[in-house]
Amino acid sequence: MVGKPVPRRNASRELLVASDLAALARAAAERFASLAETAVVRANRFTVGLAGGSTPRRLYCMLAAEPYRSRIPWSQTQVFWGDERCVPPDHVESNYRMAAETLLQHVPIPVEHIHRMRGEDPDPDRAATGYEQLLRTTFQVQAGALPRFDLILLGLGADGHVASLMPDSPALRETARLVLAPYVERLRGYRLTLTLPVLNGASVILFLVSGQEKAAALCSTLGAGEPDVRLPAHEVRPRDGRVIWFVDRAAAQLLPGSVRTEELS
Ligand code: 6PG
Repeated sequence: MVGKPVPRRNASRELLVASDLAALARAAAERFASLAETAVVRANRFTVGLAGGSTPRRLYCMLAAEPYRSRIPWSQTQVFWGDERCVPPDHVESNYRMAAETLLQHVPIPVEHIHRMRGEDPDPDRAATGYEQLLRTTFQVQAGALPRFDLILLGLGADGHVASLMPDSPALRETARLVLAPYVERLRGYRLTLTLPVLNGASVILFLVSGQEKAAALCSTLGAGEPDVRLPAHEVRPRDGRVIWFVDRAAAQLLPGSVRTEELS
């Protein structure tokens, strides 16, 4: 059972340490459902950006099972992605495929509410521009205005990247566009990614971080000392929103006591 978390909040940040990935996923599923219910009561809609990679898999599987399958208002939920690999939607590397297999194929979400990035487009910048237009249409925001997601899920790379915003990437300096298609040298390929203005326009950012290989990046981002300002994760600071960190003990092992908060069981 997940203990009742006693989160420590500073102005807009909350850190909860779970014993392991399963406990982290349970806590995240509960928070996801609660945010969805609140958003639908307030606006009759819940807009969420999904994270890719491997950490969210446990969470997505939990959301597809009871009690969350029945509890979450899927018919009023609009699903987007924070980033996507430039591969077809049925490719093993596709973030869309991962979420479809673990979650979206198992819940009653209308297919027209599933807004994937077109990673298969041979012109990544055209795919980015198309997704930007989709965001503007769905959120009904004109040029110069930002979509405001109810929730964006993010993972943390061992190098401190978030979505597909890599350290030292020019994409980190983007202030106007909502979606970019940066070339990632390390991956020798393009990615599609939301930009920092969109992440920082969200109501809630929920980071899911698991494993000792993330401990150094997490400590640099959250550490008590001067965080490593180079890390993209450190730039995720919603102007009018909250950042929630759900991490497991392995990822939190380097955090100084001044930063750690109540442990979840
Ligand atoms: C992706 C993700 C990426 C991911 C981190 C952590 O497309 O890979 O969006 O930002 O969240 O790299 O990945 P893991 O959860 O696999 O450690």
